[in-house]
Amino acid sequence: MSAKLLGFAALAVAVGLTGCATPCMQHKECTVTTAYYGKTKDGVAVNIHTLQNKHGMAFEVIDYGATITAIRVPDAKGNCGDVALGFTNLADYETKSPYFGCAVGRYGNRIAKGKFTLNGQAYTLATNNGPNALHGGLKGFDKAVWKAQASKTAAGPAVIFTHVSKDGEEGYPGTLTMKMVYTLTDANEIKLDYTATTDKDTVVNLTNHSYFNLAGQGNGDILGHLMLLNAEHFTPVDSTLIPTGELRPVKGTPFDFTKPVAIGARIGQADEQLKFGGGYDHNWVLERENGELCLAARVTEPTSGRVMEVFTTEPGVQFYCGNFLDGTLTGKEGKIYKHRYGFCLETQHYPDSPNHPNFPPTTLKPGQTYRTTTVYKFSTK
Ligand code: BGC
Repeated sequence: MSAKLLGFAALAVAVGLTGCATPCMQHKECTVTTAYYGKTKDGVAVNIHTLQNKHGMAFEVIDYGATITAIRVPDAKGNCGDVALGFTNLADYETKSPYFGCAVGRYGNRIAKGKFTLNGQAYTLATNNGPNALHGGLKGFDKAVWKAQASKTAAGPAVIFTHVSKDGEEGYPGTLTMKMVYTLTDANEIKLDYTATTDKDTVVNLTNHSYFNLAGQGNGDILGHLMLLNAEHFTPVDSTLIPTGELRPVKGTPFDFTKPVAIGARIGQADEQLKFGGGYDHNWVLERENGELCLAARVTEPTSGRVMEVFTTEPGVQFYCGNFLDGTLTGKEGKIYKHRYGFCLETQHYPDSPNHPNFPPTTLKPGQTYRTTTVYKFSTK
């Protein structure tokens, strides 16, 4: 090795860059850059935006589905890893994605039998998940090409996504005009700010569907991650994952994550709710005062020392632990995503709220602004 190369190697070790991809390097500046990513099968051009801060964190997001395609964060030793499951190309996102990283709407999660009534009028949605409607229908917001504007804001580099969903699209009433701002802050946070307005009464429940593995995407299952959920209750479901309407205490059940517990510790127990979900695939009722940003979850991965905290203004979070991943999808770096290789924490209103008057309402009326914020904050211990 030449003296010059040796010098670089020594420097790399000193700053903890060994095995680290370039975007994890300590940048002097926060940046957001935009590049061409690909064309959809309908010929629409899609860009990719890379946001990086001064602390070795970066994430990438594409206009298709406003999908987060990579999240690079250091581990406790400073080595960088991509903790988000995803694909290497647009065609895979279009044809085989189980909602990796995308925005979800108009109604995230399930609506029973694809039916709800608003102001006495019945609406029918496509049933795309057994007997139920899931994640906004056949062409939800995960499949829209969002307009994007990269921007440097006071809070950090950001991408401002906008999209208009037409009145009647996927069966939902009202023209929904949306804005989502994705920001990378200096505190290693991905901050998602959603706003929406409508011209007719409608229902809205927007979320992000990132799958995480804090040991690095594709590096084993997530059963050893320690999960804390700031929730004393969850919404039990029927066999098709529709809430029964009950808010059930988690105490004494495998759904109690009020103290950190390994995801896998109780997942195999003979419990009817775990059987219905094929594992955890449920909505937890967050402990909160009205609408302020509160801790929803803290996840720690013991081998890497990576920690992710989720804060949200939403009243619920769907903790889904990748029960439907089965080794048939190959993702980034040729990694195969097997059973439970990723988990999601989808901040949201409760599933099927339009059919449950006792759940926090999801109706948006003309003149009102839908406004929610969710933060995914990364650190190490
Ligand atoms: C649902 C799961 C579903 C997954 C991917 C989650 O929000 O709760 O049941 O398999 O999304 O579609």
